[in-house]
Amino acid sequence: SKIADGEGNPRDFVAKMKAGNKRLVIFYGSQTGTAEEYAIRLAKEAKTKFGLASLVCDPEDYDFENLDQIPEDCAAIFVVATYGEGEPTDNAVTLLQNLEDESFEFSNGEHKLEGLKYVVFGLGNKTYEHYNLMARKTDKLLADMGGIRMGERGEGDDDKSMEEDYLAWKDGMWEAFAEAMGVEEGQGGDSADFVVSELEEHPADKVYLGELSARALTKTKGIHDAKNPFAAPVVVARELFQDVKDRNCVHIELGIEGSGMSYQHGDHVGVWPTNAEVEVDRILCALGLHDKQDKVINIDSLDPALAKVPFPVPTTYATVVRHYIDISAVAGRQILGNFAKYAPTPEAGEYLRKLNSDKELFAKVVGDGCLRVAEVLQLAAGNDIAARPTPENTTTWPIPFDIIVSSVPRLQPRYYSISSSPKIHPGAIHVTCVVLKYENVPSDGINHKWVYGVGSNFLLNLKHAANNEEVPLLSTNDPSAAQSVDFPQYRIEGPRGAYREETIYKAPIHVRRSTFRLPTNPKSAVIMVGPGTGVAPFRGFVQERVALARRSIEKNGDDALVDWGNITLYYGCRRSDEDFLYKDEWPGYETELRGKFQMRCAFSREPPYKPDGGKIYVQDLIWEDREKIADAVLNGKGYVYVCGDAKSMAKSVEDTLARILGEAKGGSAEVEGVAELKLLKERSRLLLDVWS
Ligand code: 2AM
Repeated sequence: SKIADGEGNPRDFVAKMKAGNKRLVIFYGSQTGTAEEYAIRLAKEAKTKFGLASLVCDPEDYDFENLDQIPEDCAAIFVVATYGEGEPTDNAVTLLQNLEDESFEFSNGEHKLEGLKYVVFGLGNKTYEHYNLMARKTDKLLADMGGIRMGERGEGDDDKSMEEDYLAWKDGMWEAFAEAMGVEEGQGGDSADFVVSELEEHPADKVYLGELSARALTKTKGIHDAKNPFAAPVVVARELFQDVKDRNCVHIELGIEGSGMSYQHGDHVGVWPTNAEVEVDRILCALGLHDKQDKVINIDSLDPALAKVPFPVPTTYATVVRHYIDISAVAGRQILGNFAKYAPTPEAGEYLRKLNSDKELFAKVVGDGCLRVAEVLQLAAGNDIAARPTPENTTTWPIPFDIIVSSVPRLQPRYYSISSSPKIHPGAIHVTCVVLKYENVPSDGINHKWVYGVGSNFLLNLKHAANNEEVPLLSTNDPSAAQSVDFPQYRIEGPRGAYREETIYKAPIHVRRSTFRLPTNPKSAVIMVGPGTGVAPFRGFVQERVALARRSIEKNGDDALVDWGNITLYYGCRRSDEDFLYKDEWPGYETELRGKFQMRCAFSREPPYKPDGGKIYVQDLIWEDREKIADAVLNGKGYVYVCGDAKSMAKSVEDTLARILGEAKGGSAEVEGVAELKLLKERSRLLLDVWS
């Protein structure tokens, strides 16, 4: 109908490029928004460096038949993340299919892209096996079809160095780009993306103050997903550690009844946190906005294709920094350069420029010191970072708010492995979350600082609020509590309740599907390895089996589980009387599963220790059980699941499994063992849900 209206086909990106006089099209394959952010940054740089306008595209919104029709003086950039086991992100599935499928014809009637100027930047994670596979595939396919790469493909490692990898790649790419496009640097200008205006009068009940009010105001219906989270009531919230004061592990049950949302065991839930109040104050003070933080503002985009206003407006300064931008993350090197010209003194500006240009200094001061963007501003201006920020002790940097909105990344949801089964808990999603809090000691040994995870401390605050508990001002038991900044408190009860409706506390959530699932046939043996909060999905797995067992026994009587496979859970924690998660629940599951479920526990900080005094970990128990495990995997078509810390635990567990399977096949860990693990992964009989 759009075509009949004369508006053209909305899925035709070439038409849009031509209509908007855009010489660059940038596609992003993004799952959580990071690739999209890099795509937008590239578009902005093309504008400021060369004065070129870009069309930034979600590949899902366009068709690719006319990829060969991109005009000769134009180019395409693909910013693509690799997801899971080397897969494209959901929104880039069709794009990859079209590129791969040799029978897919472009408008020239062939599967060829002769002369298409392109380049690829990939986002991946080195702790996963298929590092940046999506980017590598995309690059190779485009080259094979006759595309001309501008410079080198870029690859970013999300585990360590995404930002540095991007910065190291882009300058060379822009040089090659300039040459290929016949443009020169310096033709662009410093153009703003947004206009921020303060509204003198606006009905108070039409101002967005956070997720809950956003939902209430927009009355958004329809599917709840990453773009439309559901405000889920906190049904139950409690501590899981026994008698431990300085570490917290929160169990939260989030109600989903009436939401239309469903989940499966092994799925992830995305929780949308807020920033801690101390950080909200810090940045408001540093920007000189503390006194007018509740002023109603409107934000308009100057180029909606390039920069969508990323949150609902009208809103307030405080709401933007509290709910929508990531002021808690370690500052990025590039944005410091943008801020230097607003320095309160020449020295402060000089220091920021130095941090911006001197990679080593930046890594030492900002990286090692875990400094957030407002802390860097404070440091540059000579303020005391450790003090509670106030307008009096914090120097003002008159950085225009539109620059803050376009340069500070958006606050992203935090993902947790769901720890329940919908068969036992259809109306609630359970989250098991260890609260991240540690004392950071930089390499120079000075400026110790407490680092608090945004998502987990948000959940802890929600737990305190839901139970009517007072939020402790300082965490007890911290030996250096006196020098730490306040225990991070969150605005859970803002005006009109960002997170509270009447007496019910809510958290905005959405469900992300995973492939981490039990085999459908209960006869298969299952080996689960999940120390610490890695046990979360396995609580869901075991509940899933318990539900099935109840039904089978009801139908077929007491012998119903006789030919079921064994489920073994390898669990580890420090001490059996401290951090043993769900300690009271497991015996009940063992009874209900009639001996088909066993737990093997490694308590690392209580006896028995190894003969040399070393700690016993899950991988040691796995090695002890090697015969049983080899038999289950090699002869019994068994399934192996590993969840938890990617770098050390999962790696050691995989090494141990390789050794067990390799030796059982009469070979070595390195050859036969590794080959067997690879095969198991390909057949989805070895599945990982790991994080770093
Ligand atoms: P630790 O803290 O005593 O070293 C959950 O965090 C459990 O995992 C704890 O018992 C912890 O032991 C243990 N753990 C730490 N590092 C590990 C590793 N590399 N492999 C397996 N378990 C580990």
